[in-house]
This record gives sequence, structure tokens and C-alpha cells, in this order.
Amino acid sequence: MKACIRGVGYYVPEEVLTNQYFESYLDTSDEWITQRTGIKERRRASSWENTSDLGAKAAERAIKAAGVGRDGIDLIVCATATPDMPFPSAACLIGAKLGLKGVPAFDLAAGCTGFVYGLAVASSFVESGRFRNVLVVGSEILTRIVDPMDRSTCVLFGDGAGAAVVSPSNGASEILGFKLHADGGYGELLYLPARGTALELTEEVLEKRLHYAKMRGNELFKIAVREMANVSIELLDELGVGKEEVDWLVPHQANIRIISTLAKRLGLPMAKVVVNIQKYGNTSAASIPIALGEALEQGRIKSGDLVLLVAFGAGLTWGAMLIRW
Ligand code: UT7
Repeated sequence: MKACIRGVGYYVPEEVLTNQYFESYLDTSDEWITQRTGIKERRRASSWENTSDLGAKAAERAIKAAGVGRDGIDLIVCATATPDMPFPSAACLIGAKLGLKGVPAFDLAAGCTGFVYGLAVASSFVESGRFRNVLVVGSEILTRIVDPMDRSTCVLFGDGAGAAVVSPSNGASEILGFKLHADGGYGELLYLPARGTALELTEEVLEKRLHYAKMRGNELFKIAVREMANVSIELLDELGVGKEEVDWLVPHQANIRIISTLAKRLGLPMAKVVVNIQKYGNTSAASIPIALGEALEQGRIKSGDLVLLVAFGAGLTWGAMLIRW
């Protein structure tokens, strides 16, 4: 049995942070941010909103689009690097917010590749016959873990959530395959030193701002381009699909320069690439489902299209998935 994506939904918080907002208190400029990243604005969650709130809203929309009803969901997987708290998991909290009692739920930590990892887990469960309708959520509130005084990271990240329901294929639409990779040896290129068991939140840790994400962007950039291209080609070769057959590339939205270099390496024109980084910045595990949700809403992705998802992120992790929509 093959699996398919039966419905997609997304939710972004209302508050918009423009590049001018960062200009107002940091040594940065709209010009630098636009040219180096492609980002013009991003969203910020309200103080009363948590990751599970964003995730539950996206999930409701995905369930509605899938037409399976809440009762049809039999597993919840939430990909996030910013859960409400270490436990209970964001997936359990989303389940509670959706009123899903007794439905198994767990979080998955694979950085910005989390949604692709989540779809891979979901499709494997569906293909095995173990679960029928798996809700995969990617939800993040990154504005709470980036240092508002670090111009090299705070301008990049935004908040949001996206979700999909993975179900048995009806024969037309199907998940054709995926490839996942990780290399923890590169962990310190993008990491959050404190807030886990490694470091207690002492005054010294807070003073050194180790409770905020640290990133070596330049090094990451090169690995991201190389590995996203490699994993895409690896997957297409394995499935015997030519690059030119791909109708839509839906990449993780980290930097417009990463996306356009990747498209060039894959020989795909930008007209076949879904890009919304200008509006939302990098929303980590939420970026692919938000981009997918928007492209579907705009009627760009149509049934029968070949859609290639590819992501890269903290871990380091990277992966790709090919879907016949
Ligand atoms: O989600 C997956 C993980 N994340 C990524 O994949 C991110 C990958 N990396 C990137 O997107 C890019 O490396 C960045 C956007 C983070 C940085 O762009 P860059 O072209 O690699 O710049 P850089 O780090 O080499 O910095 C160039 C200069 C530096 O100044 P000096 O040392 O040349 O004087 C930075 O201090 O730009 C400076 N800079 C800024 N200037 C104005 C860094 N951030 C800013 C800023 N505004 N916001």
C-alpha cells in the first residue's frame, strides 16, 4: 500500500515584523537583509500563543482539507525545535487542543528538516498498515529562541505552523519515496547551548546569552546547497525520475540565495520553485508545509504534478521526498 498527502493546512500569527523594525534598534538595513536573504518580513507569535496553539490551528485546517474528520486521526507527529516545554510534547498538547483523547502523539526533533522527517515517518506507518490517517505538524516559535541583539540570526527567523494528513493512497496521488540523512558531527554549526541538560540556566549562562540559538551561517550555507542538491539527485536517480520531470520544487525557506543556487544545480527554472521566504523568513519545520499550503491555495500545485520537497537544518539533518500530487 502507498501513502499520499490527503490535506494540508497552515497558520501564521498576525503580527508582522518588517526589516524596518530591526533597523530601528540594530546595526542592520532593509537592503542588507533583502539582498543577503530575500526576507522582507516575518511573523511573531503573541505572548499568549505557544507552539502547540499554532500547530493546533494548522492541524484543524489540514484535517478539514483532508475531509477525514478529527475522529479519523490515529497518530499525531509534531516536528519542532521549539516545543512549548520539554514535556509534555507539543504533539500531546496539540492532541488535547483538538480533543483527541487516546490518540498516540510524539514530537520529532530534526531541525528544519523536521517536516520531511515527519512525512517519512507517517508514510512508513501508513504503508505498513499500522495507522490510517497520520497528522504531521511542523510548528515553531523561533522568535523566542533567537537573540534579539544578534543581527546575524534574529532577522532570519519567524513563527508559524503547517500540517498535513497522510493517508492511504487512492491510486492517483502518492508519496513516491524519500531520502533522509544526518551528521551530528556538524552539530555546533547551528545549536542552542542551554535550555537542555547540557547547561544549567545560571546567571553566567544567561549573561553569555547561551540560552539563544548560535549559528555559523556562512559554513552552513555551503553545506546546505551541496547536500540539498545531492539528496535531491540521489532520490530522483533511485526513483528513475529525470530532473526535468519535476513540476514543483518546494524547498526549505532559509535563504533565497540557497534556494536559487539549488534550483540552478537541479536545472530547474525559478518558475517551478515555490518561494515565500520574503513573507515569513525561516520558520524551520513549518516552512515546507506553509509553502505547500500557500501553493495549493493559489492553485499552483495541481493533481498529477510531481512535487519535490527538500530541506536542511540543525543536526545537521537533510532530506528529500518526491510526491505525485
Ligand atoms: O534553516 C537552516 C539553517 N540556516 C541556514 O541554512 C542559514 C544559512 N546561512 C545564511 O543564510 C547566510 O550565511 C546568512 C544570511 C546567515 C549570512 O549571510 P552571508 O552572506 O553568509 O554573510 P556573512 O555571515 O559572511 O557576513 C557578512 C557580513 C559580516 O560583516 P563583516 O564581518 O564582513 O564586517 C556580518 O557581520 O555581514 C554582517 N552581517 C550583517 N550586516 C547587516 C551579518 N548579519 C547582518 C545583518 N545586517 N543582519
